[in-house]
Amino acid sequence: MSASYRIPFNKPGLAGTEWQYVSQAITDGHSSGDGAFTKKCHVFLEQLLGIRKALLTTSCTHALEMAAILLDIAPGDEIIAPPFTFVSTVNAFALRGARPVFVDIRPDTLNLNEELLEAAITPRTRAIVPVHYAGVACEMDRIMDTARRHNIAVVEDNAHGLFGKYKDQWLGTFGTFATQSFHETKNVICGEGGALLVNDARYVERAEIIREKGTNRSRFFRGQVDKYTWTDIGSSYLPSDLLAAFLYAQLEAAQQIQTRRERIWNRYFEGLSGWAARFCVGLPRVPEHCRQPFHMFYLLMPSLEIRQALIAHLKEAGILSVFHYLPLHLSTMGLRYGGRVGEFPICETVADRLLRLPFYNDLSEDEQSSVIEAIEGFSAFSQ
Ligand SMILES: Cc1ncc(COP(=O)(O)O)c(C=O)c1O
Repeated sequence: MSASYRIPFNKPGLAGTEWQYVSQAITDGHSSGDGAFTKKCHVFLEQLLGIRKALLTTSCTHALEMAAILLDIAPGDEIIAPPFTFVSTVNAFALRGARPVFVDIRPDTLNLNEELLEAAITPRTRAIVPVHYAGVACEMDRIMDTARRHNIAVVEDNAHGLFGKYKDQWLGTFGTFATQSFHETKNVICGEGGALLVNDARYVERAEIIREKGTNRSRFFRGQVDKYTWTDIGSSYLPSDLLAAFLYAQLEAAQQIQTRRERIWNRYFEGLSGWAARFCVGLPRVPEHCRQPFHMFYLLMPSLEIRQALIAHLKEAGILSVFHYLPLHLSTMGLRYGGRVGEFPICETVADRLLRLPFYNDLSEDEQSSVIEAIEGFSAFSQ
């Protein structure tokens, strides 16, 4: 899609050591799951976040599916999520038979509106799945308090939010579970990949079993049992060690990656603030008590028409800018669950007006200047 664009939306960044680590995994003879590099990634994430257990998965989608199985989600259950998110946030639970109940997003951070949460809870609610959009934290104090009072599990969809914090606590460490994505569009990548973070020790052993096709193979490999067998439902959720080798190279370079992304994000923000204020364009909002991981830079344009015109204008300049999620309640599946136009007005207007700008580790100053200049040259406002 991006081949014809001078400045693509995303370019997977390389740390430089990926080839070396992948070839090491090949020559070491362990290319299936849970080899040496997978273990290194687990330790990296566990030490960074101070969590009980990290388990690499083949995607964030699969980590969410594991969370749904671990919570014994079943037909008749409900889960609460924002409608402005990726399909997997709710599909993982719908797969187990749960009904998604949506709660509109806040107009500032575009995260699930914690003030509307309580009203959506019913005796059937089994999980709340907040999404830290663009890695900016949801209001976790209120969400965790509501969840505790109703005895409902929280699964943080932290696909965007590795390295983000809420009031000095890492995102991914609040919920019973959290899920990460290492898809090539994220800050730290391995093509396709993810992780399940298990913050409650009671779930660790079953999580290992579900990830290993419903077997206790992990215990067998650790010498804790002398043969392994089918003990639960599960699937093959663990990635090849070749992917883990790629990911470990990226994790080791995380600090450099984050420094670059912070510089790019700040330059967009400073470069576009005056223009945005003049034309009533919204820029990302990061509350004081949140530390963001510089995952994304977006504009909130005044209308759908103006957003589409800016996409076309940037395309003319060889720059690919993209919108984001379509409201889930208005998707084919969402309508089947009873979704109605106008039901979640903030989500609907944001979906129409949001535009993401090119954002990748290797975006050069010249490229970024050209994106900013092209935006400043957009004339639809004066028509
Ligand atoms: C909020 C959110 N959750 C989950 C996912 C799914 O991630 P993955 O592609 O790793 O399955 C995405 C994808 O970008 C996402 O944006």
